[in-house]
Amino acid sequence: MNLTSLLPIAMQKETIKSSAQQDESVGAEVSVSADVAESPAGRPDYIKVCDFSFNYVPAVRVLHNITMEIPERQVTAFIGPSGCGKTTLLRNFNRMNDLIDGVSHEGKIYVNDQDIYDRNLEVISLRKRIGMVFQKSNPFPKSIYENVIYSLRVSGQKKKAILDETVERSLKSAALWEETKDRLHDSALGLSGGQMQRLCIARAIANRPEILLMDEPCSALDPIATAKIEELITELKENFTVVIVTHNMQQATRVSDRAAYFYLGKLVEMDDTTKLFSNPEQKETEDYISGRFG
Ligand SMILES: Nc1ncnc2c1ncn2[C@@H]1O[C@H](COP(=O)(O)OP(=O)(O)OP(=O)(O)O)[C@@H](O)[C@H]1O
Ligand SMILES: [Mg+2]
Repeated sequence: MNLTSLLPIAMQKETIKSSAQQDESVGAEVSVSADVAESPAGRPDYIKVCDFSFNYVPAVRVLHNITMEIPERQVTAFIGPSGCGKTTLLRNFNRMNDLIDGVSHEGKIYVNDQDIYDRNLEVISLRKRIGMVFQKSNPFPKSIYENVIYSLRVSGQKKKAILDETVERSLKSAALWEETKDRLHDSALGLSGGQMQRLCIARAIANRPEILLMDEPCSALDPIATAKIEELITELKENFTVVIVTHNMQQATRVSDRAAYFYLGKLVEMDDTTKLFSNPEQKETEDYISGRFG
């Protein structure tokens, strides 16, 4: 049941606006989920991309005929040089790009066999299944506690025990609990950059999304926090589908099962990570992963 649709229209709009504001100001980090319930399907979602092309403005195509399958319960890494379209594709998975004027697309994207551009699809119900963590964090100007439970608040959850449990579980998973457990009601804006990013990860997983999209989530983190987030990603894939964009080739090999190499808006190659990194089919891929590119 789509609880979001039961929310007052104003609240639904606020929900969309909140994620849009996050996105447009300093890079989105969490798509606001409005339902605390687990997926009725009881299984993780997967993504299928079929001949998908995307333009930000008419006649300026930034993704070209992408076809790929992102398997459930695995980690898929997107790699490729800056500007090749990794973020753009990721943001299409939960239709974040809808928020930009003038965009257009061709082809299809399916989440669990559901066409996400189907005119009957409720975008909010799609987004509630998909958590997002983006490169630049931007916590809400609220307490640490309120940041984590933001989506639960939007959905009207008031039970303190549930809220407390969510905060502790999410912050522990994001490797932030020890540093914040005694200051949960302090402003999130008083955290360091790396702590803010981990807070945004905690917020993205608070609602147990079926799919977690992570766009360079560790670029502001130190090696210890990075290792913890990588551990978290490995744990999450037991139940969820994870897509991570990374410029760190070691990270891609450590955390991902599948890897996709993009160049100039095209998918050059996608394969098991071990295969792609040890014996890529395409010379372009080899040049990139071996550092000979550019
Ligand atoms: N909002 C936008 N409006 C117009 N063009 C955009 C917009 N966002 C991205 N682009 C363009 O789309 C192309 C792909 O950008 P995208 O951000 O997806 O690349 P990326 O692979 O994520 O790069 P990076 O590794 O630097 O994050 C680039 O040419 C970029 O300039
Ligand atoms: Mg990007």
